[in-house]
Amino acid sequence: MEKRELGRGGPLVGVVGLGTWQRLERPELVGAALDAGATFLDTSPMYGDAQSVLADGLSGRRDEAFVADKLWTPSDDEAREQARRALAWYSRVDLFQVHNLVGWRARLDLLERLRDEGRVGVIGATHYQAAAFDELATVMRSGRIGAIQIPYNPRQREVEREILPLAEELGLGVVVMRPFGEGSLVRRVPAGFDEVSWPQALLKWVLSDPRVTVAIPASSKPERIRANALAGDPPYLDPDQREHVARLAAGSR
Ligand SMILES: NC(=O)c1ccc[n+]([C@@H]2O[C@H](COP(=O)([O-])OP(=O)(O)OC[C@H]3O[C@@H](n4cnc5c(N)ncnc54)[C@H](OP(=O)(O)O)[C@@H]3O)[C@@H](O)[C@H]2O)c1
Repeated sequence: MEKRELGRGGPLVGVVGLGTWQRLERPELVGAALDAGATFLDTSPMYGDAQSVLADGLSGRRDEAFVADKLWTPSDDEAREQARRALAWYSRVDLFQVHNLVGWRARLDLLERLRDEGRVGVIGATHYQAAAFDELATVMRSGRIGAIQIPYNPRQREVEREILPLAEELGLGVVVMRPFGEGSLVRRVPAGFDEVSWPQALLKWVLSDPRVTVAIPASSKPERIRANALAGDPPYLDPDQREHVARLAAGSR
């Protein structure tokens, strides 16, 4: 699998990782991901018991993974507790993100302290809604984060307007959530694209944008985790192929 820098001068990460929202049903899926080279593992206190299932799955293999976790709370006390739990589970958080920008100034204060102590690698911020992208841009320009996590797929391209150009200008890493539109893009497989599977084509569509660092599809099925990881092996799509995939995605509702 190809590796890219998470932000200018940042750590190298495999370009296809694993999301854990609602899909990380058992620890064995973590092993399937690591075996497939999908070592960038994204979780959050918002995802039910995904964090503890991830910790179970990493038992004995923590060093192979790049763990991306989040703080998600307006409360300073609860944020400290979330950080304590995350560090107890993973010993270090490689990318620690402010989930949906909740209380971001205070959350960044805490994450900067933890980074100074060597417990956190890169600091990031996420949001899933275009309505929040102005605020996300403010956080990006603050100089306090090294990576963002945003939605990007052929049907959801708002980040192309301001967020991706700004990430490139500032040298920030870009983690792509929802590469399959929460599954809506892969429910029907369109005819007319057969060089790789349709889900792989969608991942290659995302990764063809050089501003993207890593895509994090979620799946509860080991064979799909393996197939998704294979999409991180170049070549990706040229502009014509990318347009073709976008047209097929528009018609695959
Ligand atoms: N605000 C935030 O910070 C935020 C918000 C949303 C998401 N995220 C992160 O981004 C990750 C990804 O987003 P997402 O989980 O919403 O959506 P997604 O990855 O776009 O889609 C997941 C869906 O695709 C299906 N799928 C996966 N691989 C497949 C394949 N090869 N063939 C067919 N179907 C496949 C999965 O079903 P099966 O399980 O049946 O395979 C699941 O229903 C999340 O898990 C989370 O880590 C962050």
